[in-house]
Amino acid sequence: MFAADTYRQRRQTLAQKLGSGIVLFLGNEDSPMNYADNCFRFRQDSNFLYYFGIDFPGIAALMDIDQNTCLLFGDDYSIDDIVWMGPQPKMAERAAAVGVEKVEASTRLADYIAKALQSKRQIHFTLPYHHAVKIRLAALLDCPIAALAEKESVELIKAIVAQREIKSEEELAEIEKAVDISVDMHVAAMQTARPGMLEAEVAARVEGIALAANGYISFPVIASKNGQTLHNHYHGNILKKGDLFLLDAGAEIESHYCGDLSSTFPVGQAFTERQKLIYEISLQSHYTAIEQLREGITYREVHFAVCRKLAENMKSLGLLKGNVDDIVAASAHALFLPHGLGHQMGLDVHDMENLGEVWVGYDGQAKSTQFGLKSLRFAKALKPGHVFTVEPGIYFIPELIDLWRERHVHDDFIVWSEVEKWRDFGGIRNEENYCITAQGPRRLGTKVKPKTVSEVEAIIAK
Ligand code: GLY
Ligand code: MN
Repeated sequence: MFAADTYRQRRQTLAQKLGSGIVLFLGNEDSPMNYADNCFRFRQDSNFLYYFGIDFPGIAALMDIDQNTCLLFGDDYSIDDIVWMGPQPKMAERAAAVGVEKVEASTRLADYIAKALQSKRQIHFTLPYHHAVKIRLAALLDCPIAALAEKESVELIKAIVAQREIKSEEELAEIEKAVDISVDMHVAAMQTARPGMLEAEVAARVEGIALAANGYISFPVIASKNGQTLHNHYHGNILKKGDLFLLDAGAEIESHYCGDLSSTFPVGQAFTERQKLIYEISLQSHYTAIEQLREGITYREVHFAVCRKLAENMKSLGLLKGNVDDIVAASAHALFLPHGLGHQMGLDVHDMENLGEVWVGYDGQAKSTQFGLKSLRFAKALKPGHVFTVEPGIYFIPELIDLWRERHVHDDFIVWSEVEKWRDFGGIRNEENYCITAQGPRRLGTKVKPKTVSEVEAIIAK
């Protein structure tokens, strides 16, 4: 949590941007797993954390821009609660810590909203993603849940994105802490994975490091010998000597800032010549991206530079044919890279994704529907303060290969007989976190994750 002034300043900037109306922020609620008292680990909404910093369920906030007031709604805990939960700060203390002077009981929020509705005041809100919060909002606004989406404030979304996407120095310092723990998670996985182990044993070690740092994981760990499945959360396979293991995992620290890294390494031995060949190509994609990073270039251009490099390399290997620009324009290279180069990162691992990729990644421009390009989450011109991932990969997805081959998709560019020789290869991804500064791009974190063939081979368990 930052000093009260940080939150006050953020709210002031938001109010100035919007100019008038009421802004309603509903914090997240506890979410039961299997009975009411047995809840999932609580995760506060990131907009709520950004403007109000209070990491506790069931709190709402209302900013009245025209009257220049800000209110928090929530209830103090009774002695019955305290017996089970231990001493808790009073709402007034929580509010003071983030620069809010006025607190009301949670039941009073409905009166404020009813009055605002009666006087036809504009109520800005963003569409919740939590069902319980959707229900609460629909009841407050006296509107069907299905109609909430059309009432969501695009003005508010744009204002939040403009603020949250430019990270301050104090935010960068938090993100670097998260990245450092994420590096520890990856190093531990490389040192842990051995033939005969379950993938789950590696995943548990990785997750344990985030927990031991009094944090959590920033998304469910991907730890698999089947790295060709982009988001593979199955951890039940036994590792064999020589398997390629893909880990995509990051830490979320106590302040909820995130890291997100990916590594790929061989189990129990050095890379085979075949693995090394594709791994080196994936590193070339990575370095191509890094070389391009600068203020003003769009991330879409960086993505395309990577796609061209990959197409060029796959052509040299005999898997693609034809003109590289034509291959990339047709998206034939997406057989090997069906996802985008990266995404913004901050209080959410895919920062602000619930506000809509069209605003977070595209400044309101329509996203492409082309296979491959449609999965590029971030395409904007890079600005100082932007924090994002660089995560090119190379995948051989047998199901996709079979489907495209059967349907003659991109027969002009794909040499199917050569692709078949690699169908069981698996997948590779390397991911790092960068920010743009006035001085240029900077890799985040004080620790560096092993990435080159020799760095990886020096650290893996053999
Ligand atoms: N690290 C998972 C993702 O970026 O989608
Ligand atoms: Mn990522």
